[in-house]
Amino acid sequence: MSVKYVTVIGAGQMGSGIAQVFAQSGFEVTLLDQQEAFVQKGLSSIQKKLGRQVEKGRSTQEEMDSILSRIMGTTDLKTAATKADLVVEAIIEQMEAKVSLFQQLDELCPAHTVLASNTSSLPITEIAAVTKRPEKVIGMHFMNPVPVMKLVEIIRGLATDQETYDLVEQLSRELGKHPVEVNDFPGFVSNRILMPMINEAIYTVYEGVATPEAVDDVMKLGMNHPMGPLTLADFIGLDTCLYIMETLHEGFGDSKYRPCPLLRKYVKAGWLGRKSGRGFYVYK
Ligand code: NAI
Repeated sequence: MSVKYVTVIGAGQMGSGIAQVFAQSGFEVTLLDQQEAFVQKGLSSIQKKLGRQVEKGRSTQEEMDSILSRIMGTTDLKTAATKADLVVEAIIEQMEAKVSLFQQLDELCPAHTVLASNTSSLPITEIAAVTKRPEKVIGMHFMNPVPVMKLVEIIRGLATDQETYDLVEQLSRELGKHPVEVNDFPGFVSNRILMPMINEAIYTVYEGVATPEAVDDVMKLGMNHPMGPLTLADFIGLDTCLYIMETLHEGFGDSKYRPCPLLRKYVKAGWLGRKSGRGFYVYK
C-alpha cells in the first residue's frame, strides 16, 4: 500500500508539527481541528517555523510556499477522513475523546486507511478495539518539537498486523525519523521513564525541597540534561503530563505513579505551561 494523502487530527503543538513534517516530505496533508480558529493557529505556527528556516538560509521561499501549498486546513471531519490513506490523531490525551474519534474515523475512512494515534501513553489496543479494523490501528508517537526530534516510537496494539507496522516504520524513515518499536504498555517506553521523573521533580517543589529554578539547574548542570524537568513539563503541557501520570497510575495500579497534587492544582488553575502562558514559569 502506498500513502499519498495524510490527515492529521488536532492542530495543537503536536498536530501542527506532524502536518509540517509530512508536507516537507511531499505528502498531501489535511490538518483538522474542532474550530476554525484552532486550525488557523496551527497553520500559522507552521508558517512561522518555516519562515525562520528561510531567514536562517536553511530553506528558500519557494520551498516554503510549496510545503504550505501541500497543507489544507479544515474543520470538516467527513471530507478529511474520506480521502485519507493515513490518519494521525493528535487530539487531547483523554481516552473518551480518542475512542469517540476513532469510532467516527472507522465509519468515514476508506477500508484501506491506516489509523495512527500520537498518544503519549494510552493503550493502542483499547483504542483499536472500538474500530472494525484493529489490525490497521497503530501508535505513531512523535516527540516535541516534531520537526526537530528524531524519534518516532511505534506502538503495536495486540491486533496490529505486520503490513500496518511495516508501512508506518517505512513512513517514519521517509520523514527522516528514527523509528523504535515498542509494545503496548502504559506510557510505552518514553513516558514510562520520563514522566515519573517530571512528577518527582514536581514533588520536590511541592515539598519545599527546592525552587523550580534550582531543580532545573540540578538536572541540567549535574545530569547534563539539555532542559530541566520543570521547563520540559511546561513545554509538554501540564495537562498532558497529568493525563499521562493518571494513565500510568491506573494502568499499573502502583502508588509510585500517583500524580503530584501540585500538578493537579496547576492544571485546575489553567496553568498548563508554555501554551497557556504560565506553568512552573511565566511566559510572555
Ligand atoms: P494541544 O493541547 O496543543 O492540542 C490538542 C488539539 O486537539 C487542540 O487544538 C484541540 O482543539 C484539538 N482537539 C481536541 N479534541 C479534538 C477533536 N475531537 N477533534 C479535533 N480536534 C480536537 O495538545 P498536544 O500537546 O498537541 O498533544 C496532542 C496529543 O499528542 C496528545 O495525545 C498528547 O499526549 C500527544 N503528545 C504530546 C506531546 C507533547 O510534548 N505535548 C509529545 C508527544 C505526544
